[in-house]
Amino acid sequence: MTKPNGRRAYFINDAAEVRRILTRRHSKYHKGPGFERVKMLLGNGLIVSDGDVWRRSRRMIQPAFSRQNVHRLMKVMVGCCDRRALHWAELAANGQTCNITSETSDFALELILISIFSSDYETRILTAGDNPFAFLSRDSTRDLSVVMKVRQLRELLLSIIEDRRAGRGSDEFDFLSMYLQATDKEGKPFSDAELLDELMTLIVAGFETSANTLNWVWYLIARHPDVADRLIVEAQQHLPNVSALSPDSLAAMQYTQQVLEEALRLYPPVWLFTRRSHELDELDDFDVESDTDIYLSPFILHRTGHYWPDPDQFDPDRFAPTDKPKKDRPFIPFSLGPRRCLGEYFSFLEMKVHLGLLLPRFRMDVVEAAEPELELSINLRAKKDIFMKPTER
Ligand code: HEM
Repeated sequence: MTKPNGRRAYFINDAAEVRRILTRRHSKYHKGPGFERVKMLLGNGLIVSDGDVWRRSRRMIQPAFSRQNVHRLMKVMVGCCDRRALHWAELAANGQTCNITSETSDFALELILISIFSSDYETRILTAGDNPFAFLSRDSTRDLSVVMKVRQLRELLLSIIEDRRAGRGSDEFDFLSMYLQATDKEGKPFSDAELLDELMTLIVAGFETSANTLNWVWYLIARHPDVADRLIVEAQQHLPNVSALSPDSLAAMQYTQQVLEEALRLYPPVWLFTRRSHELDELDDFDVESDTDIYLSPFILHRTGHYWPDPDQFDPDRFAPTDKPKKDRPFIPFSLGPRRCLGEYFSFLEMKVHLGLLLPRFRMDVVEAAEPELELSINLRAKKDIFMKPTER
């Protein structure tokens, strides 16, 4: 089709072509329409940058996401679960309902902020009033008031960066300490402006996606008590108590992994990827000329019956280990290729710790019979918050 601005656009829903565009042919494309709006928030951070700027930042940042480093943040994940458990126990004791959408959002936001700032979160961010980042999860508009709030956030972040550079502030292990130490091929570290963009990117990329996934997972397992039962048996086997928590015990939670993958298949938070070609790309059936917009949707691919039988059914056993090749089943919630999500391992660990510690303790029942409506904006999320009734098991 040709868009009103005269630019040609393709929506591609062929698994093989999508894979090629994201992997072997990725260098022919830049990020596409919609990213201008994201730039307002993230400047030129990793998600929005392209070409040499992106390549340099990705090389500098990637080591921070090694498994070894992520494992060091597991205790932060446990602390965030403990705080949710305290709150949920209180709600359960008082017979109150729980807004699971804001709970999972607060969980994921607190986790990413402590993972970045460690104790500076409490001493510098929480003291700045109500969590000044909270609006990011509630405000889907990107208007002038958001611009003001973002400006204030950047000032706060800049003062934390300056303190760290001057040897003040937290000296614990966290993402900020790793970003401050990172250098490029010439041995140059990030400038303050670059660091600000990368920190905002990490906060935005790192919480809403995991929060949305957990929101859907709680909803899906409340609707499928048989799945909840299997998850609890698995958690009790591998995580009988918090001291049993280790990368190995989490890796052994195979069924939990399947449930998370099935939730990500049905509700991929990044439901639409856009790209713009900057040179000719010859696909199998047609050519993509330079300056063409491309739309690819994990949401549509994951629900295409040709690839996924009974695509709207929630069935975690689709992801059971198998000898069959998986290539013919497009599953791309984290994208593919060189721009694949950097936080994939972190997010699986965070979601497994969350479910493994909280599900055996709390039963959550849905309070509204109607299926939640979807909102397909920058991220895919539930149009209205989901409420549940917590009970201690
Ligand atoms: C369920 C959770 C998550 C999902 C589904 C997800 C999905 C994605 C997707 C689809 C992209 C690529 C977007 C595109 O190319 O247009 C991406 C990029 C990225 N994600 Fe995630 N993400 C998740 C969690 C996280 C977390 C927890 C972090 C950080 C702690 C993170 C950090 C990033 C970064 C830095 C990029 C940019 C990579 C680059 O362009 O080189 N993500 N994510």
